[in-house]
Amino acid sequence: MKIGILTSGGDCPGLNAIIRGVCKPAIQHYGMEVWGIQSGFRGLVDDNVVPLEEKVLSGLLNSAGTVLGTSRDMPFKRRRFSASSEDKPSMMMKTIKKHGFDCIVCIGGNGTQDTAYQLSKLGVNVVTIPKTIDNDVEGTDVCYGFDSAVSIATDAIDRLHSTASAHQRVMVIEVMGHNAGWIALYSGMAGGGDIILIPELGYNIHNVGSKIIERLKQGKPYSIVVVAEGIKTMENKKAAQFIAEEIEYETGFETRETVLGYIQRGGIPTAYDRNLATRMGGFAAQLIEGKQYGQMVSLNGSTIMPVPLEKIAGKARLVNGDNDLIIQGKRMGICFG
Ligand code: F6P
Repeated sequence: MKIGILTSGGDCPGLNAIIRGVCKPAIQHYGMEVWGIQSGFRGLVDDNVVPLEEKVLSGLLNSAGTVLGTSRDMPFKRRRFSASSEDKPSMMMKTIKKHGFDCIVCIGGNGTQDTAYQLSKLGVNVVTIPKTIDNDVEGTDVCYGFDSAVSIATDAIDRLHSTASAHQRVMVIEVMGHNAGWIALYSGMAGGGDIILIPELGYNIHNVGSKIIERLKQGKPYSIVVVAEGIKTMENKKAAQFIAEEIEYETGFETRETVLGYIQRGGIPTAYDRNLATRMGGFAAQLIEGKQYGQMVSLNGSTIMPVPLEKIAGKARLVNGDNDLIIQGKRMGICFG
């Protein structure tokens, strides 16, 4: 069997671990020939592929980045005023035919899952793995990269407590998550945030101000506010800047903001993500060996299992208000807006 593998969409800490997780068993256990497709789906369009030998895979488990590169190219999305986009699918089919790939392994978030599904509808054998720090791919309890991003954000939040209390300030930290507030929720709770704002729940700035004043009256003249970048703001302001300004106006508290940004997408993966990479990557290779195509590898509770792509394409998994972290957080006095 000859397979191609690509990483697509926003990167995450240690994408290399999941490349290793697929390729090692594919080569060593199943005797497959593996080729790397460079820069996501762009590599299929441009026929930019390289053979991946065993020696390339050593040292990938705890290394940052992706040896294949990535891009946000979505060849099925028609770009306005550009006639070229409609022939991109045919250019991908040409590359797949030319190299005789029996299957393409697509590692990525929602956009990647959708593109892989479109490819499968053209008759291409695909197996996908959910990867995004946003953790918002439907059909799986966890995406690869989420735990590592939460770990980075939690460490940052931990560091803000001492400076907030030293200066008796409100510290606002903005974490990634455009539509889904998973990183803000998980790192906010793990980092002991006092106020956590996520896109799914909305917020009333007066509630935020009241919580800060309530803490002052309890003898805590400082607060930690964790916000997802995707919460509603005004005048096109970034989340942290907007919330910090609003808090100062509402409470008179000296407030400072930190935007964690791309720090959350760099560095090496956590132990959890390394083992998730091994589990999901190996299962992907197993599906290919069994010719079970058109499937996304998912984590359901503690079990790795396949989910048909048609069931998840075009959907996003958002935080529910009845998430048990939110329920328990509210019971311990944390404000969710
Ligand atoms: O998809 C993950 C993500 O990091 C989002 O959380 C963030 O909003 C977006 O990517 C940033 O996109 P880009 O990498 O294209 O700037």
